[in-house]
Amino acid sequence: MTNPTAAELIARSNRLGADPKNTNYAGGNTSAKGTETDPVTGEPIELVWVKGSGGDLGTLTEAGLAALRLDRMRALVNVYPGVEREDEMVAAFDYCLHGKGGAAPSIDTAMHGLVDAAHVDHLHPDSGIAIATAADGEALTKEIFGEKVVWVPWRRPGFQLGLDIAEIKDQSPQAIGCILGGHGITAWGGTSDEAERNSLWIIDTAAAYIAEHSKTEPFGPALEGYGALPTAERRAKAAALAPTIRGIASADRPMVGHFTDSDVVLDFLACAEHPRLAALGTSCPDHFLRTKVKPLVLDLPSSASVEDSVARLKELAVTYREDYQAYYDRNATPDSPAIRGKDPLIVLVPGVGMFSFGKDKQTARVAGEFYVNAINVMRGAEGLSTYAPIDEAEKFRIEYWALEEAKLQRMPKPKPLATRIALVTGAAGGIGKATAKKLAENGACVVIADLSLEKAQEAAAELGSTDVAVGVQVDVSNAEAVQAAVDAAVLAFGGVDLVVNNAGLSLSRSLLETTEQDWDLQHDVMAKGSFLVSKATAKVMIEQELGGDIVYISSKNSVFAGPNNLAYGAAKADQAHQVRLLAAELGEHGIKVNGVNPDGVVAGSGIFASGWGANRAAVYGVEEKDLGKFYAQRTILKREVLPENIANAVFVLCTSDLSHTTGLHIPVDAGVAAAFLR
Ligand SMILES: NC(=O)c1ccc[n+]([C@@H]2O[C@H](COP(=O)([O-])OP(=O)(O)OC[C@H]3O[C@@H](n4cnc5c(N)ncnc54)[C@H](O)[C@@H]3O)[C@@H](O)[C@H]2O)c1
Ligand SMILES: [Zn+2]
Repeated sequence: MTNPTAAELIARSNRLGADPKNTNYAGGNTSAKGTETDPVTGEPIELVWVKGSGGDLGTLTEAGLAALRLDRMRALVNVYPGVEREDEMVAAFDYCLHGKGGAAPSIDTAMHGLVDAAHVDHLHPDSGIAIATAADGEALTKEIFGEKVVWVPWRRPGFQLGLDIAEIKDQSPQAIGCILGGHGITAWGGTSDEAERNSLWIIDTAAAYIAEHSKTEPFGPALEGYGALPTAERRAKAAALAPTIRGIASADRPMVGHFTDSDVVLDFLACAEHPRLAALGTSCPDHFLRTKVKPLVLDLPSSASVEDSVARLKELAVTYREDYQAYYDRNATPDSPAIRGKDPLIVLVPGVGMFSFGKDKQTARVAGEFYVNAINVMRGAEGLSTYAPIDEAEKFRIEYWALEEAKLQRMPKPKPLATRIALVTGAAGGIGKATAKKLAENGACVVIADLSLEKAQEAAAELGSTDVAVGVQVDVSNAEAVQAAVDAAVLAFGGVDLVVNNAGLSLSRSLLETTEQDWDLQHDVMAKGSFLVSKATAKVMIEQELGGDIVYISSKNSVFAGPNNLAYGAAKADQAHQVRLLAAELGEHGIKVNGVNPDGVVAGSGIFASGWGANRAAVYGVEEKDLGKFYAQRTILKREVLPENIANAVFVLCTSDLSHTTGLHIPVDAGVAAAFLR
């Protein structure tokens, strides 16, 4: 059963974390001290429950809490070797854990354990950080909060900061909390409610003060020509620039992207001071660990053409990488971890919006959210004073902190398709849906494109949140619709690098029964459709310079002359030859083009359900419900082919295991000698 003190802490944390004004995603931590019976002695013991490393306050559960013995935590003060060796204390927390200890204790555990208050909140509110990063933050703290809130100069989080805050609390009995220079706030209380009230009072009082006293144009006057483009225009420009920008962000390692054109971002970029402020970088450790010390900012007006913007972005990327290397070289010591990549994680385009990047969609999205937090912080700080983030050397000490490095090293190995963005056509059902599922399970971000938006979105929702899969509408036989779907994919995840041409349909008719419309429909959807999709996506892939995969779901019927199959079989043969032609043409860009030849996939197939099955059953003289088994008996392996079998073949073609294979067709038909390839 959850200890009542811990239960109270979870409820308070969830309330605080639910409102973004109080703290950024996964930022800050909370704690409560209380008693429990020691199962070993039967005696009461004092414990501190504190949010563990990594989790988010808004969704905190008991599993996210670390539980430590307070007597042992406090005893650490006696063995503390001093600030130079404060990192050693993190390992010592493990010797304070109660029972199995719950979640891993975070670096802020010392502050929570050492401050002499039953309940402590450490938060990263935009309003509080605005005061914390104002050049005269100390004076502002006095002016805004009087004696109730104490200024604590910047110090990297750790044992010493915990001792500093504990001492301040002892010396300032009237204080309810403090502003941590360059970083955030900490508040405390004798009860959980009191701590929560104090936290909210500091956050709201800071926000009200900023609202009342801020200058009218904290980011300076409007910059001529840098205003937001109209929505449709800026989305189109964003989509056109996205592949270049993803390529820039992925020069050292491939990244997934997120795009936002919220007013906060567009307003910042529309004002005169944005280049100076962006160059100063973010301040709160949480912010810049996710955003890198500073963003890359395109220094062209909103009206700049796509071509000019692309050219300038490429120049700026070179400078950005040189600057980052220089920052590393200036600050690294012999025991610093190796440089982690020189590419920007945030790219700002005036009039258009912000692209943010990460190892997966969630990380990319949160990086963008954090830069919005940073813009809010800069607005507050500049409104009252001058924005003065922590200096570069301190940023480096955080970014390349041995403890941060250890956290990164502990991360689980990425899945085989991590960072890859897949577009699967006709994926609302059947083989396409099974393929989308397989790709998503293996770490890809997936765009499900199909005729019906609703069905595409339903299929995407089955795979997970919009961080995993999104549904878009497309008629692959229409060039404009294909471009719109590719644009949507690019805006959803930053780019495209794995394309599955799966959309299709099948009319089973003899030559004399086949109408001109039948012929056109088969060829429009499959031959022309996959041509259009390959064309629009290859353009993105070539611009990204990250290689890629195009897989055609062709058919046994591309090589085998089945009965009553002219239009379908001819269109499939066309697709099969596209594989060879494009493999030859796109190889120089690192794009592999391969095909899968399925046969007899009855289960889950819309093609079979909508008449083709009945027709085939009639042709072969079996009952429709037995068609799957009939096909199985025709095969060499006597196995029924399922959509998952096709999905597995697509997956294998796109993994690094087949990195040297292009122009190949894999039959997935349980063995049909007549369709053997040679
Ligand atoms: N099922 C089999 O035995 C078999 C065998 C060989 C090849 N194939 C091929 O596999 C692919 C998938 O077939 P399935 O059996 O899963 O069929 P399915 O009908 O379940 O899936 C096809 C999907 O394509 C979509 N689609 C059709 N026209 C489209 C268009 N113009 N634009 C966008 N989407 C469109 C449909 O809405 C549907 O969701 C097809 O290309 C098919 O020819 C299937
Ligand atoms: Zn913090």
